[in-house]
Amino acid sequence: MSFSVLGLTRNLHGISGILQLVFLLILLLLLFKVVQFYLCRQWLLKVLQEFPSTPSHWLFGHRMKDQELQYVLMWVKKFPSACLQWLSGSQPRVLVYDPDYLKVILGRSDPKASGIYRFIAPWIGYGLLLLNGKKWYQHRRMLTPAFHYDILKPYVRIMADSVNVMLDKWEQLDGQDSSLEIFQHISLMTLDTIMKCAFSHQGSVQLDKNSRSYTKATEDLNNLTFYRMRNAFYQSNTIYNLSPDGRLLHHACQLAHEHTERVIKQRKAQLQEEGELEKIKKKRHLDFLDILLFARLENGSSLSDEDLRAEVDTFMFEGHDTTASGISWIFYALATHSEHQQKCREEVQSLLGDGASITWDHLNHMPYTTMCIKEALRLYPPVPSVSRELNTPVTFPDGRSLPKGIMVTVSIYGLHHNPRFWPNPQEFDPCRFALDSDRHSHAFLPFSGGARNCIGKQFAMNELKVAVALTLLRFELLPDPTRIPVPMARLVLKSKNGIHLHLKKISK
Ligand code: HEM
Repeated sequence: MSFSVLGLTRNLHGISGILQLVFLLILLLLLFKVVQFYLCRQWLLKVLQEFPSTPSHWLFGHRMKDQELQYVLMWVKKFPSACLQWLSGSQPRVLVYDPDYLKVILGRSDPKASGIYRFIAPWIGYGLLLLNGKKWYQHRRMLTPAFHYDILKPYVRIMADSVNVMLDKWEQLDGQDSSLEIFQHISLMTLDTIMKCAFSHQGSVQLDKNSRSYTKATEDLNNLTFYRMRNAFYQSNTIYNLSPDGRLLHHACQLAHEHTERVIKQRKAQLQEEGELEKIKKKRHLDFLDILLFARLENGSSLSDEDLRAEVDTFMFEGHDTTASGISWIFYALATHSEHQQKCREEVQSLLGDGASITWDHLNHMPYTTMCIKEALRLYPPVPSVSRELNTPVTFPDGRSLPKGIMVTVSIYGLHHNPRFWPNPQEFDPCRFALDSDRHSHAFLPFSGGARNCIGKQFAMNELKVAVALTLLRFELLPDPTRIPVPMARLVLKSKNGIHLHLKKISK
């Protein structure tokens, strides 16, 4: 008995000794982290001293909730060319919004800023948007033919069909007094379009009641990813995955991936059908998904399943959420400027009559409508910012410089509201884009610039034009003064309270 009591005491001593050791190790680790944080912050404060900033918290950085764009407007007025935003106490980024600064950054080949873009990877994987270096170059070269003129031309008909499905639905709602939240409808419509154009999908997701789960998942992923980028505690994967937000993200990713996997499976099954392969062989250029399915890399191997899925996830997201944001904000801008809306309508009416046969050739003959679309893209850029991580030091035209490793964010929203280049920046004035108007080559960049510009730019502009033209032929757009949208920064520009408009059917 006395022997076992002695053994137990020894064991307890042993356990408490181990606990003490573990406690000591944790303490040392914490101390190490604190010293590391302190030294890193001191270094950052020193190297970034030429870039001004408003006061921020030493650990949490600038806490702006959903006011980030409003802060950007204030900074653009207060600090010429560039300023500093602290995402957390040890993660600053230099915001640039001067065309000469942008020209320098977009002319270099710095990689995407891993500090924030890595948080998008669980959702869209390493496709064209997130890839860097040689692999990015190979994929860009492989996918560029999917946006060739010959491919884009017949898409105009598909775009028009999708818009008309949405407008038919809106006609059935005609007569209701309350305004309509248009973003949800438009994102289903743009999803329908990209599914048909890029993924050869048959049938309409607008008429399928389950499709909303993908657009809802996109909305959740946009919010969750954006919060994660700005939360000091969510930087570690282990902590984030255990948090409630981490679990929500996991669920939303699953929903989004189920959708894209279904699309890949369906196309593979179609290609097994007789005749389908023959049709493809005759084509000079393949549609997006077919390029991926038939891809042979330089070493002769085919694209891995993971790479293929990443590209499909990337294009499914980029190809519909950005255009949905663009079209929704253009509609809002036209609703609040009825004189410009009417001028566009008259232009479209004289060009298209009833709009039944809109084609590629029409799209270059709506100059006033195009000016209005561009002015709306200036005021409400669908992608508010893009970020890079400097791989070598940089010196800007005014002599200020930054060392390697710093995150630089091109604030497209800031650039487009910079009063030095856009007088009265908040005013909607399509004449800024008149043919004879003069402006800096880098003052208007909704699709970014340089080698990493938007691959879907032409596709997007066509879709915006088709949507605006066909909608104005059938509806008058009116604002809802009780629900004025509030722009909110996300990966893609959103409104805090949705975009509500009244729609009035035009009698023929
Ligand atoms: C109004 C609509 C659109 C806007 C404003 C827009 C804007 C942009 C911007 C600013 C970038 C640069 C992102 C960065 O550097 O981080 C980008 C890249 C990209 N966009 Fe778009 N986009 C639009 C529509 C589309 C569409 C319709 C597609 C596909 C069909 C698309 C596919 C992509 C892809 C794959 C990239 C990455 C390109 C690369 O890095 O090589 N976008 N877009």
